[in-house]
Formats: sequence, C-alpha cells, structure tokens
Amino acid sequence: MQTRRLGTQGLAVGEIGLGCMGMSYAYGTPDDAESIATIHRALELGVTLLDTAEVYGPYMNERLVGKALAGRRDGVVVATKFGFRLRPNEPRGVDGTPENVKRVADESLQRLGIDIIDLYYQHRRDPNVPIEETVGAMKELVEAGKVRYLGLSEVGPETLRRAHATHPISALQSEYSLWERGVETDVFPVLRELGIGFVPYSPLGRGFLTGSFAHGNELGADDWRRTVPRFDEANAADNARVVDVVKRTASKHAATAAQVALAWVLGRGEDFVPIPGTKRRTSLEENLGAERVRLDENDLAALDGVATLASGARYSEEMMTLIER
Ligand SMILES: NC(=O)c1ccc[n+]([C@@H]2O[C@H](COP(=O)([O-])OP(=O)(O)OC[C@H]3O[C@@H](n4cnc5c(N)ncnc54)[C@H](OP(=O)(O)O)[C@@H]3O)[C@@H](O)[C@H]2O)c1
Repeated sequence: MQTRRLGTQGLAVGEIGLGCMGMSYAYGTPDDAESIATIHRALELGVTLLDTAEVYGPYMNERLVGKALAGRRDGVVVATKFGFRLRPNEPRGVDGTPENVKRVADESLQRLGIDIIDLYYQHRRDPNVPIEETVGAMKELVEAGKVRYLGLSEVGPETLRRAHATHPISALQSEYSLWERGVETDVFPVLRELGIGFVPYSPLGRGFLTGSFAHGNELGADDWRRTVPRFDEANAADNARVVDVVKRTASKHAATAAQVALAWVLGRGEDFVPIPGTKRRTSLEENLGAERVRLDENDLAALDGVATLASGARYSEEMMTLIER
C-alpha cells in the first residue's frame, strides 16, 4: 500500500485506513470475532491507521481495538478521540476542558492497552472552552509523551487557525464523500495553507454509496442511521440517483461501487487518507481494491455532480449544531 503524509510533523500512514466505529457502535449487531479478524487482516494488507474514539460504545470500541492490537502494536498508528461528557449523572454534551482532555487520554491508553496515542483528536469543538485551552492541554500530553500528533474533527477555518497556532495540527477528520462535500469551499484552502492533512470519514456515505441499502428502514431496528434525515425513506428516490451514477462508473471499470467511492476520495488530495469502516474481512479486501481503480476525466465529470442530487441532512438538527463551518 502507498504511504501518505498527514500534516508536516512526520505522521505517515497507509493511504487507506480502517474505521472501527461500526464494529461496536451505531451500525447494527456487533461481531467481535469477525471484527478482530478484520483488524488483523487489515494490518496484514498494509493498513496502518486504525480509527476509534472514547464515545464509540462508549468505551467498547477502544477495548475491542486494544484486544486486536495485543502483540501487534508495531507499525500501527492508533487514532482516538475525546470530547464528550459520558459519565453517568453528567448532563450529556461536549467537554473540551483541559481536565477532560487529560483524563480521557489516560483512560483511552488503558482501554487500548498502549502507552502512547499516535493521533489524538478532539471529536467536536466545545463552544464554551476557548480552543487554545483545549489544544493547550493536548499539547501538554505531547510534551508528557502520552500523545504523538494532534487532530481535530468537524471544525471550521477559524478554529483550525487558532488551534494550529497553539500547537501544530496534523490532521482534520471530517465527513467527506461523493455525496458530502461541504468542507471543500472554506476548509480545504485552510488545510492547504497550514499543511494540515485530511482524514475523510464516512467515505462510503455510511454504507449507502456501496448500494447495499436504499433507506434507513431497511436497517436493523437499533441502527443509528434510522435517525439520520438523509436515510429517510422519503429521500430514497433522490439518493438512489447518486448510487446509480456510482454503479455505472463501477461497471465500466469492472469494480464495485465501494471501490469507486473510495477511489474518488483518494484522488481528491495527496494528503487525504479515507477511513472506510467495516466489520467484515470480505468488505475490507474489496475496499482496499480501490487503490487499483483509475478514474478518467469522463468518470470524474459524471461523479462530480452527484452531491447535488442527494437529499436530506447528514445529521439530526441537534447533532448539526456541533458541526462548525
Ligand atoms: N469524526 C467523526 O465524527 C466520525 C463520524 C463518523 C465516523 N467516523 C469514523 O469514520 C469511520 C468510517 O465512517 P463510517 O463507518 O461512518 O462510514 P463508511 O465508512 O462510509 O461506511 C461504513 C458502512 O459501510 C459498510 N461497508 C463498508 N464496506 C462495504 C462494502 N465493501 N460493501 C458493502 N458495505 C460496506 C459497513 O458495513 P459492515 O460493517 O457491515 O461491513 C458500514 O455499515 C468510522 O468507522 C469512524 O471510525 C468519525
């Protein structure tokens, strides 16, 4: 697998990472044995970046990744995230206080069974805590040898600039895919100017762009995607037009829709490292095949317009308030 750089501080990873969230959280029934086998297979195939977070479960996904990492830590870049109030009896919400930044890092290290977090992200900006205070605490973790590189998720240009002035930021992780391109206009120019790498999350549109389901009602009763407006049955006809274009492109290349969706993201920037999520070895192997798909100008022209066909917000209104633009 090709290597890509994230930021200018020395972080380098295989160009496709593995999102581990859905192994324990939000996307249907977990299968820990197959998930661990998937992580092991990913590492064998050259994936180095594993993505998890405190909130996935909560806690369960970090424990699962920790279990998978036992005896295989060398060469793996472990990325995790803090940023929410999760303890019982606490009001729910975001927490970017220095105390939380540091406490969660210690707890994540324990759950992951490692002694340094390679990439530590703030999951969502806390509007009540100046970003300098949050990143200041993250910087202290770097100085203490508990964290190697810093990242942010779903923040806008001003936060990126202020954070980067406090301590160099190596990666921004935000949603980005064929049908979700909101970061292109305002955020990408700042990433380029500051030399910050980009980790597109949900590059398969939370599975939708693979063509494996038409709307949320087809998913399990406890699947979180049922709460996402974009997966409302009412939007299914519009969104099917997106998948049709992806499938047509795929058949031209004897590839799959998932591979085309990932090849498109990989082609958008030399420092873009998508983290498609799967809990199955078969899907993992399929997704890594995206590296072989070469999209031509006609493909890119056809795919370029699909985001405008998509209907429905990508989060509930309440969750959208945490996304900075
Ligand atoms: N920073 C943030 O706020 C944030 C938010 C969301 C996600 N993330 C991170 O980004 C990672 C990836 O995003 P995501 O998991 O939301 O979405 P995604 O990668 O766009 O899609 C994952 C979904 O696609 C399915 N899938 C994967 N490969 C497939 C294939 N080849 N064929 C058919 N279905 C396939 C998976 O199902 P199976 O598991 O059943 O294979 C899963 O349901 C997460 O794991 C998480 O680490 C971060």
